[in-house]
Amino acid sequence: MKILITAGPTREPLDPVRYLTNRSSGKMGYALAQAACAEGHEVTLISGPVSLPVLEGVQRISVETARQMFEAVQREIVGKDVAIFSAAVADYRPALIADQKIKKTGETLTLILEKTEDILGSARSVFGFTGYLVGFAAETEKLLTHAQEKMRRKGCDLLIANDVSQPGIGFDSGENEVTLCLPDAAPFSLPRQAKTALARELIAFISQQAV
Ligand code: CTP
Ligand code: CA
Repeated sequence: MKILITAGPTREPLDPVRYLTNRSSGKMGYALAQAACAEGHEVTLISGPVSLPVLEGVQRISVETARQMFEAVQREIVGKDVAIFSAAVADYRPALIADQKIKKTGETLTLILEKTEDILGSARSVFGFTGYLVGFAAETEKLLTHAQEKMRRKGCDLLIANDVSQPGIGFDSGENEVTLCLPDAAPFSLPRQAKTALARELIAFISQQAV
């Protein structure tokens, strides 16, 4: 199958020397890309800035901002059988990017942020994607309620939810523990394990569901 994967954080510039970002390491998305490639799938990986090596056999497209990731996905999702959105896309970006370095003047500094494009949320409605759609959800409370609501709102066939309030899993960690939500079946959890092992399990599940 032809699989598109988004991974890593995005980086939203504030001025020529500063940006807003988050703690995503990209490890989950890269592990999924590696596992999918090892299973013989054709993988396109759209990656935010991470410090992970290039994966042999995977076509990697590097982007920085949410808008660049949106544009790359819009272009690359055409003709894909499966799309997996594991990137931690910034929800807001500075409304204005200063041309020059912002000087330290007042005692406080107020930033005005504007919403970024919801890339996963655009897959069905804007890009017209009809393949198997997989989202992630990072939650710190009411995991199942929030995850199931996101799955429906974004038109996912599968939503992989992780509780990022638990230490040692999820963001910036080598391990993860996830709950799988499906539109027409009861949710179920996969035990805490290395992201590489989890990725193999997830790719096996996705390739069986997506046929
Ligand atoms: N996502 C995306 N584009 C965005 C924000 C999120 O593609 N601008 C995708 C993520 O890659 C993930 C899913 O949407 O697959 C859910 O991300 P999450 O941050 O958990 O949800 P949000 O919809 O952003 O809601 P919130 O952060 O308020 O919980
Ligand atoms: Ca978000």
